[in-house]
Amino acid sequence: MDAENVKELTGKYIMNTYGRFDLTLKEGKGCALFDEDGKKYIDFASGIAVNSLGYNNAAINSALKKQLNKLIHASNYFYTEPQALLAEKLCKNSFADKVFFCNSGAESVEGAIKLARIYARKFSKRGYKIIAMQNSFHGRTFGALSATGQDKYHIGFEPLLEGFTHVEFGDMDSVKKLVKGTHGGEYCAVIIEPVQGEGGVNIAGKDFLKGLRDLTSENDMILIFDEVQVGLGRTGTLFAYMNFGVEPDIMTLAKPLAGGLPVGAVLAKDFAAKAFEPGNHASTFGGGPLVMSAAGAFFDEITKEGFLGGVLKKGNYIKAKLNELKIDFPEFIKDVRGIGLIAAIEFYRFKAKDIAVKLIKEGFLTTAVQDKILRLTPPLIIKKTEIDLFIESIVKILNYNYNK
Ligand SMILES: Cc1ncc(COP(=O)(O)O)c(C=O)c1O
Repeated sequence: MDAENVKELTGKYIMNTYGRFDLTLKEGKGCALFDEDGKKYIDFASGIAVNSLGYNNAAINSALKKQLNKLIHASNYFYTEPQALLAEKLCKNSFADKVFFCNSGAESVEGAIKLARIYARKFSKRGYKIIAMQNSFHGRTFGALSATGQDKYHIGFEPLLEGFTHVEFGDMDSVKKLVKGTHGGEYCAVIIEPVQGEGGVNIAGKDFLKGLRDLTSENDMILIFDEVQVGLGRTGTLFAYMNFGVEPDIMTLAKPLAGGLPVGAVLAKDFAAKAFEPGNHASTFGGGPLVMSAAGAFFDEITKEGFLGGVLKKGNYIKAKLNELKIDFPEFIKDVRGIGLIAAIEFYRFKAKDIAVKLIKEGFLTTAVQDKILRLTPPLIIKKTEIDLFIESIVKILNYNYNK
């Protein structure tokens, strides 16, 4: 089937929920994707921050092939080795004691919200309300959508799940006011992305996260970090919270964990996790052996000696290059920012989507996250030479298309 047929069928039979680029992808290798005609695109998006080990990764493919011939699915009424092994790896390498597996980022956020609520009901005796951040993104299901602090995602779907109060990202005084106010006992948790991904790569201040940690601990409230996008090596540390020296009580993971297969995980400290009992929460597909085997291989790869150091180095390299770009094009670029291999270029007046389309023509895939913010989340295996090529292309675009 050629690209035109694929587009035609998609338009005819798939619900119209995505604004797609005019590009049909066929296969991938390393950090490159290829279209129908064999044209190469270097990936600075990784799906939506998913393909952290690029495409056709040997370790993931081999784990999948091995498991494929053994067992694809078994229900959680039984024990399976790949699930147990991955849970051990996640706990031994993080703040957490226990894991719940599901199938997506939104589903992991739902699990975190439910766990925080039932902990309050059973143990802290606080209310059900949760403090969330403006400009945040937590997913499209009703709980996650209600936690999301951007109106554009809410419009038309009201009424949302009640009980979320949004404060400005970084505004500790507002959080304190809510928790210490007359109705402070109504709040059981705070949910925050340590780095807001969809919001435009906004990095939380260390003091803010420390302030949230202290306040929630003092009041027997749960601190939830949503690391669906920035966990698992993306920021140059295994988990984003490690950059800030602040541990959450619950953390959500998803996107890159299973090398491109659907997965989600809720990690928690024991004191919180014990609020869940059999029957409280479940997922038919969560923790299935095939997906878990890919996730185990992914986790082993990113925890290999030197891997995260490499992410940090390349992240610093991108950041230095983007800073040069900002100096060279002060009239176009308002800001550049990043941590590890998640970065953003914020333009004064160019639409990020227009720049993304021009970059596709140059052979690069990126993500437009806000009207004027272009996000870069390349595979963590991106090479310096590929970063150089990307920077050359963006310089070319800014010079030829706009510098008139
Ligand atoms: C921080 C964060 N949480 C949750 C989600 C939702 O994940 P999913 O699309 O897998 O449901 C996303 C997706 O972009 C995200 O960035």
